[in-house]
Amino acid sequence: MLNIAVLVSGGGSNLQALINAVEAGGINGRIVTVVSNKPGVYALERAKKHSIPFKVIPDGKDFDSLLVAHLKENKADLVVLAGFLRILGKEVLDAFPKKIINVHPSLIPSFCGDGFYGLKVHRAALDYGVKVTGATVHYVNDITDGGEIISQKAVCVKPDDTPETLQRRVMEEAEWVILPQAVADICNKERKDRKDG
Ligand code: GRF
Repeated sequence: MLNIAVLVSGGGSNLQALINAVEAGGINGRIVTVVSNKPGVYALERAKKHSIPFKVIPDGKDFDSLLVAHLKENKADLVVLAGFLRILGKEVLDAFPKKIINVHPSLIPSFCGDGFYGLKVHRAALDYGVKVTGATVHYVNDITDGGEIISQKAVCVKPDDTPETLQRRVMEEAEWVILPQAVADICNKERKDRKDG
């Protein structure tokens, strides 16, 4: 069973989707720690309500080394960035090769990369006038939102959408679906690999 670490920075709705999937038996893994780079965010309340250990590592020059130490201490097999708004440095990427995944609220390669996060992504999609957007789960590498794509789900843009209504629908219809599914698939593949020896 994989040890899953979830990194957050805000409301934690994607963390909640993961918790719900684990508790419903849809993910053959355990969330061993939730790490936030911001204190007092609601994602930490969600962890507390579900008795999941959590830790705040404040933004700063030693963030990456403290994070690597914490992840190793918790024997993390998979690191999930769920609404996590910080770029991870080489030290973290090298410590967890192809073991870090992220959910981005657009269909990469559209509306992604440096500066595209949260509502800014949906504002750019509306400004461009796209009729379809969605979410992407991808591996994390040294290029912002540039890692191998794992899965995507499309969401229609409505004529009266605002960035807020579009963000909500992309979360509900796409992020909260494909992130737990991606984690479940990775856990199942690892379980099969271990059985096959
Ligand atoms: C979501 O739009 C997510 O795609 C982005 O951050 C926003 C908040 O995520 N990465 P959460 O509610 O904190 O999971």
